[in-house]
Amino acid sequence: MRLQSNRVVRAPGVRALARLARRDGTGAAGTALAARAARVGVDRMRRAVDLAVARSPQSLFLRELVAQPGTVGAICASSPRLAARMAALVDAQQPGLVVELGGGTGVITAALLAHGIAPARLVVVEQSAALADHLRRRFPGVCVLQGDAADIGHWHASGHMPAGADGLPLPVDTIVSGLPLLSIPQPARQRILRAGAHVLAPHGRLLQFTYALRGASPWQTAGLHRQHSERVLANLPPARIDQLGHPGAVAR
Ligand SMILES: C[S@@+](CC[C@H](N)C(=O)[O-])C[C@H]1O[C@@H](n2cnc3c(N)ncnc32)[C@H](O)[C@@H]1O
Repeated sequence: MRLQSNRVVRAPGVRALARLARRDGTGAAGTALAARAARVGVDRMRRAVDLAVARSPQSLFLRELVAQPGTVGAICASSPRLAARMAALVDAQQPGLVVELGGGTGVITAALLAHGIAPARLVVVEQSAALADHLRRRFPGVCVLQGDAADIGHWHASGHMPAGADGLPLPVDTIVSGLPLLSIPQPARQRILRAGAHVLAPHGRLLQFTYALRGASPWQTAGLHRQHSERVLANLPPARIDQLGHPGAVAR
C-alpha cells in the first residue's frame, strides 16, 4: 500500500498490472508495467517466505536448501530419533568441548543440550549466515561460529572457542558432524577432514551421520579409525552413524 496525502491508496495487484501490460501490447509502457508486475510478485513471494520462516525452522531449512542445495545436502532436518542417537553417543561427563559441524536449524544441538551437554561447552559451526543467525537466537548460551568447518583448527587456536580457567582453549573431546561430506567437492572436503582430524583431542571421538548406509567413512581418509557403526531407519532418508577416533584411542 502507498500513502498519498491522508488517503491510503492500494497499489495495483500483480494480476491487474499484468492485465494492463497485456492490453498495452508490446510498447515500452507495456514492458515497464510487466516488469513492475514481476517486481510486485517477487516482493509478495519474499514476504510470504519470510513469514513462513519466522513461523517454522523447517521453512528456513527449505529456503537454504533451494539457495544452496549442494551445501545443505538434505531434504529436511534430521529426525528427533537420529538427533537423540547422535547425542546419546556423546559422553556428557567429558570436561572438554563438543563441536557440532553443520548445525542447520539446531535439531542435533537441541538433543545435545537435552542429553546434558552444558551450553558453555558446546560450539556449533554453520556455514549459512541465515541458519547461524537462527541458531544464535535459538541457543543464546551456545557459541555459534558462522563459516566453513575447514576453519575449526584456526578458530580453536585463536581463542574463538570457549577456554578453560587458565585461558587456554579447552580440548575438543567430541566432534558431532551433520556435514553432507559426500556432496561437498573433493578439495573442500579434504580441508574439512584434515582440520577435523587435527583438532580432535588424542582420546577424542568423532560422530558423523551419513545417508550412505554402506562403505567407508570419508574421515578414514584423514587417518581416523572407525570404532562403531549403527543405522537409524527412523529418518528421511535412513541414516548411518559412524563413530571414529584416532588410531589406538579406546572406543568409549
Ligand atoms: C544435512 S544438513 C544437517 C543439519 C542439522 N545438523 C540436522 O541434522 O538437521 C547440513 C548442514 O551443514 C551445513 N554445511 C554444509 N557445508 C558446511 C561447511 N563447509 N561448513 C559448515 N557448515 C556446513 C549446511 O548449511 C547445513 O546446515
